Amino acid sequence: MTIYLNGQYMPLAEAKISVLDRGFIFGDGVYEVIPVYSRRPFRLIEHLTRLQHSLDGIRLANPHSPAQWVEIINKLITSNQSEDQYLYLHITRGIAKRDHAFPAPPVAPTVFLMSNPLPTPPEALLKSGVCAVTAEDNRWLRCDIKSISLLPNVLLRQAAVDAECAETILIRSDSRHGEAFMTEGSASNIFLVKNGRLLAPPKNNLMLPGITYDVMLELAALHQIPHEVRKITVAEVFDADELLLTSSTKEVLAITRLDDKPVGTGKPGPMFSQLHALYQDFKRNVMRAQ
Ligand code: PDD
Repeated sequence: MTIYLNGQYMPLAEAKISVLDRGFIFGDGVYEVIPVYSRRPFRLIEHLTRLQHSLDGIRLANPHSPAQWVEIINKLITSNQSEDQYLYLHITRGIAKRDHAFPAPPVAPTVFLMSNPLPTPPEALLKSGVCAVTAEDNRWLRCDIKSISLLPNVLLRQAAVDAECAETILIRSDSRHGEAFMTEGSASNIFLVKNGRLLAPPKNNLMLPGITYDVMLELAALHQIPHEVRKITVAEVFDADELLLTSSTKEVLAITRLDDKPVGTGKPGPMFSQLHALYQDFKRNVMRAQ
């Protein structure tokens, strides 16, 4: 695997960073995950715009212009073998003596990118759906920043793995926000279906604005699927006909069991089938042919 580190392309085994890197010491950095289909980065401008939002959120200057990012990303894609890849892009506040406050300039940020083959979700999972558990969303209040400080997400996702499930659905029950409501998954966005209507939680500081989430809502609008973006209560989650999870690497999956109980019929439902088919068409006709 060829990776990119601070201006150089090299084999993964040769990449080295200082133990004083603020990413290592403080988790002081942000990241992006960009899917690549037929060697074309999908929605690159949107991913770079979200990256800029994350950088602004942590007050770190963007080390590259969009044109420079495009060049780095295209070179990395060419340097790796798979037609379909997923890129991991990571920027930290660089190397400095350990002190919580920002280091005095000039400190060069650390920029790291790697590419891995992008697997599509296995057929068996598409047929059966996946199970999920719920947990209190105990993350900070800037979940719109794609921060590399992922310890809460790591612990929340492990709760799903411990229950032999695929994802943890996060519930905010903080009294400042009224009734308990669903935010997202530990590493995905979550949609709910009730009476043929697709419901999505609104983008705000309590969830990551997913690029796949946007695609789902665009497909729903384009194909006249009834849909609504609004707050989703915990009671609605447990009374859903269908639950769906989306992310750049998982695409769209049906959640068919929640906290050990069936969701709706306990099988992937009609909304999943329709959105999955539309997403596959979209991949074939738009993403691969951009
Ligand atoms: N995660 N919410 C969270 C907390 C996420 O970590 C992700 C994606 C998403 C979905 O965003 P998108 O559709 O843009 O992939 C939502 C990536 C895949 C990861 O951390 O590996």
